[in-house]
Amino acid sequence: MENRSQWGTRLGFLLAAMGSAIGLGNIWRFPATAYENGGGAFFLPYLFALLTAGIPLLIMEYTIGHKYRGSAPRSYSKVSKGMEWIGWWQVAISFIISTYYPIIIAWAIMYSYFSFGTQWGDDATSFFVGDYLQLAETPGTFGDMVPKVLFPLLAVWAMVFFFLGRGVKRGIEVANKIFIPALVVIFIIIVIRAVTLPGALEGLNTFFEPDWSRIMDGSVWVAAYGQIFFSLSIAFAIMITYSSYLPKKSDITNNAFITGFANSSFELLAGIGVFAAIGFMASQTDQAVSEVVDDGVGLAFMVFPEIISQMPASGLFGFLFFASLVLAGLSSMISISETYIAGLQEKFNISRGKAVAIGGGLAAIVSLFFANQGGLYLLDTVDYFINNYGVALAGLFEVVAIAWFAKSLKDLQAHADSVSDIKLGLWWRVCLGFITPVVLGYMMLQNLKTEVS
Ligand code: PHE
Ligand code: NA
Repeated sequence: MENRSQWGTRLGFLLAAMGSAIGLGNIWRFPATAYENGGGAFFLPYLFALLTAGIPLLIMEYTIGHKYRGSAPRSYSKVSKGMEWIGWWQVAISFIISTYYPIIIAWAIMYSYFSFGTQWGDDATSFFVGDYLQLAETPGTFGDMVPKVLFPLLAVWAMVFFFLGRGVKRGIEVANKIFIPALVVIFIIIVIRAVTLPGALEGLNTFFEPDWSRIMDGSVWVAAYGQIFFSLSIAFAIMITYSSYLPKKSDITNNAFITGFANSSFELLAGIGVFAAIGFMASQTDQAVSEVVDDGVGLAFMVFPEIISQMPASGLFGFLFFASLVLAGLSSMISISETYIAGLQEKFNISRGKAVAIGGGLAAIVSLFFANQGGLYLLDTVDYFINNYGVALAGLFEVVAIAWFAKSLKDLQAHADSVSDIKLGLWWRVCLGFITPVVLGYMMLQNLKTEVS
């Protein structure tokens, strides 16, 4: 057991953790979520969620991984025998995500190519669903494979197999040392370009304009916590797995603060870039900013192509934008897949190579279902359930099990304090034992309520 893989450097670990955190959620989820939930006023619940749930949970997951030095299932089982299933639950969620996340990366690869000559023409929406995805007429219908989705998808899997096969230090760490600095540089170029376009200011005003009347609205707070959980890759088994590769003498608390703030900084940067670009588009087409706003797949593959078409040097900026999606996506994809690679390796005592072949192979086969003409419907449906139930439940199980049943927060605190510069206090145990479970419980009820109504 003592030859467990390790990160080569502290920076390597931090870049990998940031690589997992910084993903599509920052670029296409945060901007619209903030805008719809009070704009500038959203930053208050958002910051509150970061400090009371995001960073405390990140510290907890880092501590569990570092202390027990195992994949998520093994680490939980060492906290308490009956908790292994929580690890598998989280691994299962990550596995499912890893079957459709690479599809989006595949689209982005194709779109960085389509950018040259703005090949989507003047109707980006019909190009995306019609020409490119060849979406079947009715939901639930499965048609033929779409070759232009299939080939880049296989390329994504080849990269995932390559980096995961090479291991923690020579694979995951190397990938993130390339991807994350490149992503930051590219993204800063895009944001500078976006804020200097005509109309950008109008977009930014709309984004930051605070609507304080929303602040008493429970759903705004649920949105803030939801964004923080998703964005920090918490309760996905990822951060436990990654921190299990930390050397014995590694700071935990400080690393969690750095990861949390880096992710939020990137989120803010993305909000600025996206809304500046939306403001530009609105001014070019005589629309209100609110008419252009979108999120998710619609923002990236329908609205952004339109924006890019209107921009000077569209080929270059289109390429950079979609390349940034590819980089952000790949680094997150690697982290999701590592959860089950590590889990399989330990559970069945097999080599990394075998675990990559079995786990990755299975996920790759399942991902083919999304590469056919009904793929987008399927993706939307699975993603909806994962986000609304899978993740919130996983987080709830996790904190309740650790804080209430195993009553292990004090042990974990002692462990974190023994290696970290910043010492934890009562605030940390209150956030995890009380605030987070209450918020997550409320979140589950809200989701169920919207389901019924
Ligand atoms: N944290 C990533 C983001 O913000 C999303 C993600 C979730 C990545 C789960 C991996 C696993 O986009
Ligand atoms: Na994120």
